[in-house]
Amino acid sequence: MSRLNTCKASLNHFVKIFSGRLLCTAVLCAAIAAVAQSSPNEPLPAGAAKEKAETACLTCHEGRIIVQQRLTKAAWTKEVDKMIKWGAEVDPNTKDHDALIDYFSTNFGTDQPAYEAPKTAAGSKSKTRTGR
Ligand code: HEC
Repeated sequence: MSRLNTCKASLNHFVKIFSGRLLCTAVLCAAIAAVAQSSPNEPLPAGAAKEKAETACLTCHEGRIIVQQRLTKAAWTKEVDKMIKWGAEVDPNTKDHDALIDYFSTNFGTDQPAYEAPKTAAGSKSKTRTGR
């Protein structure tokens, strides 16, 4: 009998610790989601080379510097090669290299509509300064 009680007690203890951890994880997740939302970054669009682009191209700067470009395929080739010289981890002799250039020139080519910067609170404030 007393053995069973000890067992119950330790089970209760476990449940307390476990639910405490769960709560902790939930709070942490919410915090991370909030940070991710408020960051001025922009996600890269779906596509064959998306993952490679995320690992090779978002280490030094955010995605916005990429998604706002409208370049020809030749210009994207130059751009990617320049980034490789600067340290982007893309082997110029693999199909990753060509896939990245295809991916960028398809999504951010000169035939795409101009990039529209998301409106921020600071941006909408400046509209009130037009009374000149
Ligand atoms: C080793 C660091 C690094 C990596 C990795 C990197 N970049 Fe850059 N990138 C830079 C720097 C530094 C700038 C200049 C930033 C500035 O002017 O504010 C830049 C600027 C750019 C620009 C703006 C135009 C220009 O030439 O300045 C584009 C587009 C760009 N990078 C695309 C990419 C792509 C695509 C990849 C992946 C293949 C990539 N970057 C990976 C460092 C890097």
